Amino acid sequence: MRCMNAPFRTALDAPAGELVWLDDAMIDQVVAYSRESPRGRMIAPFHKSPDDPLHRMLNALQPHSYIRPHRHLDPPKAEAWVVLRGAVAFFMFAEDGTIRECARIGVSDQRRGVDLSPGCYHGLIALEPDTVLYEVKTGPYAAISDKAFAPFAPVEGTPEAEAYRLALLEAYEARQPSQKLSKAAPTHDSLTLLLISGSLRAGSSNAAALNTAKSLAPSGVTLRSFERMGELPHFNPDLEQSRLPEPVVDLRQQLAAADAVIVSTPEYAGALPGSFKNLLDWTVGEGLYQKPIGYLNASPYEGGAERTYQMLRVILGYVNADLVEAACVRAPVRRDAVDAQHTVTDPAVRATIATAVEALVEHVRARRREL
Ligand SMILES: Cc1cc2nc3c(=O)[nH]c(=O)nc-3n(C[C@H](O)[C@H](O)[C@H](O)COP(=O)(O)O)c2cc1C
Repeated sequence: MRCMNAPFRTALDAPAGELVWLDDAMIDQVVAYSRESPRGRMIAPFHKSPDDPLHRMLNALQPHSYIRPHRHLDPPKAEAWVVLRGAVAFFMFAEDGTIRECARIGVSDQRRGVDLSPGCYHGLIALEPDTVLYEVKTGPYAAISDKAFAPFAPVEGTPEAEAYRLALLEAYEARQPSQKLSKAAPTHDSLTLLLISGSLRAGSSNAAALNTAKSLAPSGVTLRSFERMGELPHFNPDLEQSRLPEPVVDLRQQLAAADAVIVSTPEYAGALPGSFKNLLDWTVGEGLYQKPIGYLNASPYEGGAERTYQMLRVILGYVNADLVEAACVRAPVRRDAVDAQHTVTDPAVRATIATAVEALVEHVRARRREL
């Protein structure tokens, strides 16, 4: 199921049958989709039709997901939800955007959910990865009129939205002094890294290096791969003026949702692979600006792929990315040191990859502390 305006999946299909169990398997499934979603959330509805009078759903959220504050006015809808996993910061706003109420609601907290009358501007931010709510709301649903978005809150997907989300978190933490050191702490620590391989080869050693980074993710850090390089059309500035191709929209959304990026690319004929350069061209002006970035040079040869990484540095300079030197490493991947899970087995290389990830994570956290 897709939202009318979204180029990607925003909700799963409702399960069939008269009786549906809300079990761990179902929750795990919607969580998995939310991790892969460019917007960091996914809905699993139980009502069979948008016209049903009572809408019931699981809503899985990742901490980077921005739910633009809204209310339900057309028609006015009551709404209630309880947290099944994780925790959220809940906000209720006055008409002018000032925060009226703000509280932590979580599966192990005193507050487990809310019941909201129609017409209140509200919003929420996941405080823990893989947070899941069970939500009920009056039907019917029409994508065009379901939510009246708050004019004081930026539009989802814009750079202002991320700044606003962080400002809300700060306001939340300022109002929860007792939680600042305990439960709220992971909020500021959790972050997402986007992994981009410059190789389209199925058994790619560069993808294996990035996959290994996934298996070494520190606590609170989500690493996800951009898998659609091969679907990007050839860069053409004319397309920027008309309708942007969907894979490009997806790339830019995934970059916007990421706190930092790690790339790993082969060298072909002394230069960057054309498909990877094409991806980078699509980020000029939007996508990598001031984005912390590191790289893993996975070439197993002495001096291998060096020209590619020199070129990459030049390009990253043009797009004004924030190159993190400590996260730029040589992580030589020999083909016989890649296992069936497509991860690198060599302990020294694994340690190097872990160092790069940690350096990038520390850089992002240091930048956050400066804000
Ligand atoms: C057509 C072609 C040209 C290549 N040119 C270079 C090169 O100029 N410099 C280099 O270091 N490696 C070069 N290589 C080796 C690749 O970088 C190497 O095979 C790498 O492991 C491929 O990455 P992947 O395993 O992620 O697909 C070339 C490979 C191919 C197929």
